[in-house]
Amino acid sequence: MASSKLALISVALLLMITVCSCKYEPTWESIDSRPLPEWYDQAKFGIFIHWGVFSVPSFGSEWFWWFWQKQKIKPYVDFMQKNYPPDFKYQDFAPQFTAEFFDAKEWTDIFASSGAKYIVLTTKHHEGFTLWGSENSWNWNAVDVGPKRDLVGEMAGALRANSDLRLGLYHSLFEWFNPLYEQDAANLYTTNLFPTTKTLPELYEIINKYKPELLWSDGDGDAPDKYWNSTGFLAWLYNESPVRETVVTNDRWGYGSICTHGGYYTCADRYQPGHLLKHKWENCFSIDKGSWGYRRNAQLKDYFTIEQLVATLVETVSCGGNLLMNVGPTHDGRIAPIFEERLRQMGQWLGVNGEAIYNTTAWRAQNDSIIPGIWYTAKPQDKAIYAVLLDWPPSGYVVLNEPVVSTGKTQVVLLGHKPLYWEPVKPRGLKVFLPQLSYSQMPCHWAWTLRLTGAA
Ligand SMILES: *[C@@H]1O[C@H](CO)[C@@H](O)[C@H](O)[C@H]1NC(C)=O
Ligand SMILES: *[C@@H]1O[C@H](CO)[C@@H](O)[C@H](O)[C@H]1NC(C)=O
Ligand SMILES: *[C@@H]1O[C@H](CO)[C@@H](O)[C@H](O)[C@H]1NC(C)=O
Repeated sequence: MASSKLALISVALLLMITVCSCKYEPTWESIDSRPLPEWYDQAKFGIFIHWGVFSVPSFGSEWFWWFWQKQKIKPYVDFMQKNYPPDFKYQDFAPQFTAEFFDAKEWTDIFASSGAKYIVLTTKHHEGFTLWGSENSWNWNAVDVGPKRDLVGEMAGALRANSDLRLGLYHSLFEWFNPLYEQDAANLYTTNLFPTTKTLPELYEIINKYKPELLWSDGDGDAPDKYWNSTGFLAWLYNESPVRETVVTNDRWGYGSICTHGGYYTCADRYQPGHLLKHKWENCFSIDKGSWGYRRNAQLKDYFTIEQLVATLVETVSCGGNLLMNVGPTHDGRIAPIFEERLRQMGQWLGVNGEAIYNTTAWRAQNDSIIPGIWYTAKPQDKAIYAVLLDWPPSGYVVLNEPVVSTGKTQVVLLGHKPLYWEPVKPRGLKVFLPQLSYSQMPCHWAWTLRLTGAA
């Protein structure tokens, strides 16, 4: 009797396991337990692309609509008064979102030249305009209005045909002025008309249609994750979706989820903790210091220099993060030469120093404890430690105070150049003598890498 009962129970258990192959349940505990697919940590560097109807006024910020009509911020109100008829609506910008110069292959070549390993394209920002022909965004999408093209599809196709970059899609949960969202908000999110008829169908649609390997969620509108059904959606994404094996997500899934739940952490825009985090994270930031979307009123001083961009990448990777560097294309589909130059320069630098970035892990020290501007990474698989120098020392030598070295065993190489002479210093570390190189003889500019082997 007892043994037949046991057999029944085991059969029932077996059935449950075979019927439901679902590994993840719709709870944060279960969702958060999923290991991050490895490709993401190895990639280290991605390109963020903010493109939408806001690229038409291209003034101030991609938050243009909100700043103009909700907050009535003076420069935005003045801009509209001076340049547009009084009855001009935000929706009237959409037909001018023309994208006639958009060539997804050309964009792919530029992104690939930067050394990035993934891109993240805004499929829909808080304005609600979708860059694909969404079935749930009638007459407010790039196939019905403006370009009359599936911009997401073209980008996905060109990326896959011409590069080994992975596709990431940004998607805003809420929409500033969507009446259904406003109604739910007025009901204090006790109704969920908007997520069930708009957000969730759209999320399933872009995952099934474009199969992105990264989903960058944003714009929870301070609504709780239960309202968005975030854990329910993520359980589907991780268990059943066509990208369940490789897809990576971030942490913006409802009020309070940022820096706490989901996949990797973003914590804030332009997040740079300056120290090692236990959890994988990403620093998303924009080459234009003042805006994510393209703005015509940016000045040269508003763009980060290549030295600053390289330094940001190095510090981010040393502290265990990935860098997601943003460009804002124009309404007609161009990547402005200032962005293109920065992207290609990053690629030049990574061409020499990529060994110290891709596939590395954080070392036991992130930066030198004494000399500023020295950041460390490591590749245990190659028994290598990398010290990236953000400045070329005028003295002709540099002291690294963290590594433990041994004479006759430790080798130091300047990447792109050759082995260098060094001597130990007390209490710990080494003094490395740098070659005398003219500007054009240097293997690279903006930052230089020393590879140490036989050190600990
Ligand atoms: C919400 O998530 C649950 C799983 O927890 C799922 O069964 C349901 O279909 C989801 N609802 C929508 C509208 O996607
Ligand atoms: C990183 O490691 C993975 C897995 O070993 C490998 O496929 C990939 O080519 C490496 N990437 C680089 C840039 O070295
Ligand atoms: C190391 O980095 C931390 C965080 O950025 C900083 O506070 C500290 O001053 C740095 N140390 C040196 C010597 O640069």
